[in-house]
Formats: sequence, structure tokens, C-alpha cells
Amino acid sequence: MPKRPFTIALSGKGGTGKTTVSSLLIRSFIDIGETPVLAVDADPNANLHEALGVTVVETLGSMREEAFTRHIPPGMNRQDYIRLRFRQALVEAHGFDLVAMGRPEGSGCYCFANDLLTECMFQLEREYRFIVIDTEAGMEHISRGTIGKPDMLLIVSDPGARGLRTFARIKEIAMQLGLEPERIHIVFNRFKSGTAPVDIGKDIPIAIIPDDSQVEAADLAATPVSQIPADSPARIAVLNLAQKIRIFAQERS
Ligand SMILES: Nc1ncnc2c1ncn2[C@@H]1O[C@H](COP(=O)(O)OP(=O)(O)O)[C@@H](O)[C@H]1O
Ligand SMILES: [Mg+2]
Repeated sequence: MPKRPFTIALSGKGGTGKTTVSSLLIRSFIDIGETPVLAVDADPNANLHEALGVTVVETLGSMREEAFTRHIPPGMNRQDYIRLRFRQALVEAHGFDLVAMGRPEGSGCYCFANDLLTECMFQLEREYRFIVIDTEAGMEHISRGTIGKPDMLLIVSDPGARGLRTFARIKEIAMQLGLEPERIHIVFNRFKSGTAPVDIGKDIPIAIIPDDSQVEAADLAATPVSQIPADSPARIAVLNLAQKIRIFAQERS
């Protein structure tokens, strides 16, 4: 029986680097041979695929209406059809697959896509070593149970006092949702060398990722950030993070 994948959700305020860190983390898991990885883009402003250099043809959001309006092929029930379409929405790439949640449609309700995701992930899950979920700024997906309870919640934050306050707030929400504190970690991103070390009290960051001109350059050139040179500081820091996470995953099993 295959091992259950280790699920990592990335949260944090918009613009703190969730997508950047998610894509570098996926890249790192591939580099250390922890494949396959399932990448889940759960941010309605979906751009994880760009960071990974793949194209999304269909999102779960766009499947939503169709599954209820379109004629289901004879000999198939709705569940089978949904499963089939989910497989079609899954982008397969080297070392990882990606699925995008897309935007909530109509009333702005995610519920249907959420049920689908839960159901389909349940089916797919066991094939993967790691699942990396790039979430939106809120804790929406965790509070609705869309992504289930992640094995690890990484809160990406800027390395300042304000970032720390946000971390404390998100951590509290996550704990109210039943996540054990030891699963919740802070990742400091865009750390500028020469700045005073941040005092973070008892919460030791699991990673400190430097501000990296290569990340900026990739952004400006619109090239996939996951493909920045292997010796660039951000990529090295995230590789270390991946190795730490691998140990967590081994300890769990
Ligand atoms: N370590 C870093 N060094 C330099 N720029 C970064 C770094 N991390 C993120 N950025 C930049 O910050 C911006 C926001 O990052 P992004 O990953 O899109 O954040 P989020 O997904 O949290 O909204 C992007 O322009 C990205 O290139
Ligand atoms: Mg993002």
C-alpha cells in the first residue's frame, strides 16, 4: 500500500511570496528526488502554473457548471464523469502534476469545486510524495475543509514586525481550525542582508529566504521563477527547507 503524501499548505498575506516559495519548493522536491509532487493552485488569482512554467487549460472552477449542465455520456454517472474531467484538468509535467482551483463562479461559491477537489484528491492522493498547496491569503480552504488538514502549514511573511503580527494572527486562526501548533511554521521571505536580525520570540522560522535579484529578474522577464539558477540564494534556501520538510515527513511515517 503506497504511503500517504505529505501535504504542505502555504499561507500568508498577498505579495509575501507564497507562489514564489511554492514553486521553488516543488522544484526542490524534484531536485532531491521526492517525486511525484502534486501542485495545487488554490489562489483565485492563480499563477502557480506560470511560476512552474506550465499551461493550465482548465480549472476546477470551469468544470463546475459543466458537470451540472452538460449531458453526461451514456453509461457514466456524474461522479465518474467528474473524475474523468478532473483527470483532464490535471496538468502533467516533469516530476509534478498541477491542478488549479480557478475562480469561484456565479454566486462566488467555491463549494462545488471544493467537494470535487476533496473527492478527486482522495482518489489521486496516494500516488504523490508531497502535495504543495499555494493558497489564497485567507484561511478559506482550510476553514472549509477543501484541502483537508495539511501536515504542515507554512506561513510566508516578510521578516519584519508587521509580518510577525500577521503570522500570529494566521496561526491563531489555524489553531482554532484544529491545526496543531507544531504543524505551523513561519517562513521569512525577502530577507535583506545587512538588516538587523528579526526578533521572533519563541517562534523560530523554519526558513529564512533572502531577497534575491534572480527572483526579481525572472519576474520582470516573465520566465518561470522555479527555473532560476540552482546557485541563486533563494533557491538554495528553499532547497534547505525541502530537506527539512523531508525529515518531518519521514518522522511522521
Ligand atoms: N525572495 C525573493 N526575492 C525577490 N523577490 C521576491 C522574493 N519572493 C517574492 N518576490 C517577489 O515578490 C512579488 C510577490 O511574490 P508572490 O510569490 O507572487 O507572492 P504571493 O503569491 O504571496 O502573492 C513577486 O514580484 C516576486 O517576484
Ligand atoms: Mg500568489
